[in-house]
Amino acid sequence: MTAMQRISGAPAIKVRKMDFPFGDITEKYFFDNNSIISTYMAALSATFPPGEKGFIDSVRNYRDQITDPELQESIKGFIGQEGHHSYQHKAINKVLNDLGLFVHRIEEDLEKKISHDKGRLDKRDFLASTVGMEHITAIMAEYILENQHVLDPLPASARELLLWHAVEEIEHKAVAFDVYEACVGGRRRLHIVMGIQTALFLWQVGLYQVSLLRWAKKMPSMRDVVGAAKFFLGKGGLARNIVKPYLDYYRDDFHPWDNDNTALINKWKESNIQGTTSV
Ligand SMILES: [Fe+2]
Ligand SMILES: [Fe+2]
Repeated sequence: MTAMQRISGAPAIKVRKMDFPFGDITEKYFFDNNSIISTYMAALSATFPPGEKGFIDSVRNYRDQITDPELQESIKGFIGQEGHHSYQHKAINKVLNDLGLFVHRIEEDLEKKISHDKGRLDKRDFLASTVGMEHITAIMAEYILENQHVLDPLPASARELLLWHAVEEIEHKAVAFDVYEACVGGRRRLHIVMGIQTALFLWQVGLYQVSLLRWAKKMPSMRDVVGAAKFFLGKGGLARNIVKPYLDYYRDDFHPWDNDNTALINKWKESNIQGTTSV
């Protein structure tokens, strides 16, 4: 099966202009009063505006070389979706920053790092790093859509933000991959860059999380540690459940739509979430 045939089976990439209120986020440790899980989520949210700008730039570098009109349309949807994710994450980041989780420092730091990398990296590696990160975000998205109860301790607006973001990450999960296949090609580069990227991502998010705790002068309690261990490592926890789909990426015949999870998108569309936000 070719990449183009696979694109034909993928869902349309729709840009939904959401406007989450975030007024219900009133506690610094907004996830079950757990400082570890809250700072993990805050650190991730802080990385989205600069990170997604980098994803867009890496795909834009190749946009003119794409002759397939369907893939061109998908690129347009991808750019629109990522741009709007950044916009909404900037809005929640402001609320978190005002509550004393200083995520703006992370946004600024990562923006500098990415613009430095952009000037230094081969544009093929820059695109490969986006392909890798899009896989990581897609499998995390799949996890939270399949296990929505894990987000129950969040304020409603933050929960809805993450579910919407997850749906759109799945909708556009193959775009950077298909651009890479069309314009660069070769799995070796994808695999090497993914290995490096994964290590850097885990290290960087961990460092940012520690920084958020340090800036807030917060030492996690034993309750926080136990809750976080269950959230990440327990049966049904995040880390345990994304290992296998993560490793699928290293297969030589991998394509993001080998795992057709459009049912998760359709289930979200059937829920009343879209009805409570502007589209
Ligand atoms: Fe996104
Ligand atoms: Fe994405």
